Amino acid sequence: MLKGQKTSIRPMEDDDIDTMYQWYNDQEVNLWSSGAWPLNTLQSKDQLAVKFLDGSPDMYRYAILDESDLLIGSIGFKDVNMPGRSATLYVVIGDKTYWGKGYGTDALITFSRFLFAQWNFHRISLDTWDGNVRAIRAYEKVGFKLEGRQREARFVLGNYHDAILMGLLREEFFSLHGKL
Ligand SMILES: CC(C)(COP(=O)(O)OP(=O)(O)OC[C@H]1O[C@@H](n2cnc3c(N)ncnc32)[C@H](O)[C@@H]1OP(=O)(O)O)[C@@H](O)C(=O)NCCC(=O)NCCS
Repeated sequence: MLKGQKTSIRPMEDDDIDTMYQWYNDQEVNLWSSGAWPLNTLQSKDQLAVKFLDGSPDMYRYAILDESDLLIGSIGFKDVNMPGRSATLYVVIGDKTYWGKGYGTDALITFSRFLFAQWNFHRISLDTWDGNVRAIRAYEKVGFKLEGRQREARFVLGNYHDAILMGLLREEFFSLHGKL
């Protein structure tokens, strides 16, 4: 179990699937996370279990817990580039009552430290869309820097939006948040 200031992070378990199913069928969660709901709403619990528990060899998923060990979100990485020691991060606080209270930033800092210190990654990437100001602000607080925009790459609620590409290097992270 990884311990942050507000959150803990542990591997996914069978019991998490019912809660995850609620999040992935929630239009608002989907709107922010994929920028194109209802992409995920067709997923059954069985499909989610396969995706999150069995996983794929290049997708690593973990559960985010609050101070009382209640499941509130999920975090993970994919697209591992071995020679470049890089990967792409994703995060979702699925319980909306926890948005904007620092849990996402704390989970990102805790998980990024794990990836840099334990997995020996050199760099982490992530992306979102320009309307997701809360996510961009959270990523900036962790230390992610804007690296590019893909113009009108996302279609959200009837409008095109730029995709926002961000990245974080290990030494930048350690200088901001320390190694431990
Ligand atoms: C994105 C997400 C992980 C961020 O986690 P969080 O716990 O909500 O965010 P935090 O509270 O740690 O930080 C959010 C920051 O954005 C700010 N913020 C929130 N809404 C904002 C808005 N509309 N405009 C400007 N800033 C805003 C908050 O004030 C806070 O910054 P501050 O600490 O400087 O005040 C979470 O909101 C989430 O999972 N959302 C739904 C799915 C999603 O968007 N996933 C990411 C897809 S790429």
